[in-house]
Amino acid sequence: MEKINPEEIRIEKLNEAHENITKEIKSYEPELVNFLVEDALNQQKRKISVTYLWFLRKTNELLGYITLTPDCVKLKNINPDLCQIFKDKGITYRSLPALKIGRLCVDDRFQKRGIGSLMIQFSISKAKIISQEVGCRFIYLDAKRNKDKSKDAIHFYKKFGFEMYKEDKGKKKSKETPLYLDIWPYIQEELTNN
Ligand SMILES: CC(C)(COP(=O)(O)OP(=O)(O)OC[C@H]1O[C@@H](n2cnc3c(N)ncnc32)[C@H](O)[C@@H]1OP(=O)(O)O)[C@@H](O)C(=O)NCCC(=O)NCCS
Repeated sequence: MEKINPEEIRIEKLNEAHENITKEIKSYEPELVNFLVEDALNQQKRKISVTYLWFLRKTNELLGYITLTPDCVKLKNINPDLCQIFKDKGITYRSLPALKIGRLCVDDRFQKRGIGSLMIQFSISKAKIISQEVGCRFIYLDAKRNKDKSKDAIHFYKKFGFEMYKEDKGKKKSKETPLYLDIWPYIQEELTNN
């Protein structure tokens, strides 16, 4: 299948007019369909998260969606080497600001065409913007585990350099794996390019 290029995509912030369109989404993860159809707009109106719908310009088909929300990561739960780097720089907070990918879903009919990767790039650009306005150092998410390895999203995220985030001791085992990405290299990259 051919990759879909960024120019072929239109991104719209979810609103009331999308009600019927959201019902078209198809995903092997029923929770991701339910969230979009039932909860996403409600949460957005209450300023808890923002959902972006991705459309194929040519046909107006819904390709998928991504939901973003502010969060933080605890330094004790990330890579100890990175944690030490912060300490060496005099950063002694227990947690640091992050952008959470609350949901990320590419419609089953459009998978493996590069949209998921573009959504990760989109979240990195949003995190970079927030980093300039109020500070943001990480992207955080809970990746869905799937017994079928080809559907296990962890491997997808690892391709982008996401690392395992240690679960708090005593926390109940969940069906999701927390992962984080340090966006510092992307911020540095921009500084070098400018
Ligand atoms: C996981 C998901 C977002 C990937 O989206 P996608 O548009 O198919 O991904 P891309 O086409 O951008 O793939 C990028 C790379 O990751 C690989 N990849 C995609 N899904 C993968 C998976 N589940 N496991 C391993 N690798 C995967 C692709 O083969 C591709 O590799 P390449 O660059 O070597 O060709 C998508 O399958 C999805 O929405 N799944 C359902 C819900 C889900 O699990 N969402 C995540 C919730 S946390």
